[in-house]
Amino acid sequence: MWDVWVRIFHWVLVLALIVSFYTMKTEGYPLMFPVDWHARAGYTVLGLLLFRWLWGLFGSRHARFLNFLRSPLESWRYLWLFLRNRAPSYAGHNPLGGWTVMIMMLSLTLQAGSGLFLHDDILFEAPLYGSVSDATTKLLTTLHHYNGNFLLGLIGLHIVAVVVHRIKGEKLVGAMFTGRKHLISEPVDGPGSNAVQWRAAVMLVLAAALVTWLWTS
Ligand code: HEM
Ligand code: HEM
Repeated sequence: MWDVWVRIFHWVLVLALIVSFYTMKTEGYPLMFPVDWHARAGYTVLGLLLFRWLWGLFGSRHARFLNFLRSPLESWRYLWLFLRNRAPSYAGHNPLGGWTVMIMMLSLTLQAGSGLFLHDDILFEAPLYGSVSDATTKLLTTLHHYNGNFLLGLIGLHIVAVVVHRIKGEKLVGAMFTGRKHLISEPVDGPGSNAVQWRAAVMLVLAAALVTWLWTS
């Protein structure tokens, strides 16, 4: 049910975020990266996000936001049933997972987007640094700091949720590698579907163009 693009998006995103946080949140031991590598990892995240936002609108069934963003009532109902081990099966994201993904996407976009306006007080200036007032730059720097910590919290929660599902018998991680999920009952959100591949090609070209432009700017 996870098409190949969602899977590639996920694992490249994980790698890029490891580099982003490693370069800023550690003392640089054992590997020391200059801030340029922090920025490059962030540019890669921006390319991934551009692809995923478009794929969430025009991609395969379980990649589409409208398919996995459920009403608050349905999300509460899902939680209630989940805690009583009576939750229905979903092939794609369950209602709570769906909202977590949306919040992560927004937080990631804010993080990588705000980075474009920053500087590091030494030599590095991001491509859009200087295009807004000093007060706005300050605000974006503060946002980059607090949202970075918020993002770390979300990632922690995400990993805990995956472990809880595993304890309850749902193996989700394998599905993010293979695209196949073993369900105990018929999924309420229907089976997976293929998307038109030329759309993926167009979105990939756009995302690659953005990353190339940022890496070389
Ligand atoms: C930097 C850390 C991570 C980030 C930012 C992240 C982000 C995401 C995002 C955005 C999705 C939604 C995928 C989509 O619909 O395109 C997702 C799904 C998923 N992630 Fe992660 N992830 C991270 C780490 C991990 C790790 C370490 C694991 C494995 C232990 C994992 C397992 C999964 C699984 C199984 C799903 C699918 C959940 C479902 O079936 O509804 N993630 N993740
Ligand atoms: C999702 C991607 C990104 C993540 C997770 C991330 C995360 C972080 C974190 C955690 C910090 C340390 C902030 C602090 O604790 O004060 C930081 C600082 C910084 N980031 Fe990012 N960042 C991302 C994208 C970017 C991008 C795209 C750029 C620029 C092109 C950028 C430029 C900077 C700069 C210049 C600093 C240093 C700010 C200072 O010295 O006050 N970041 N980032």
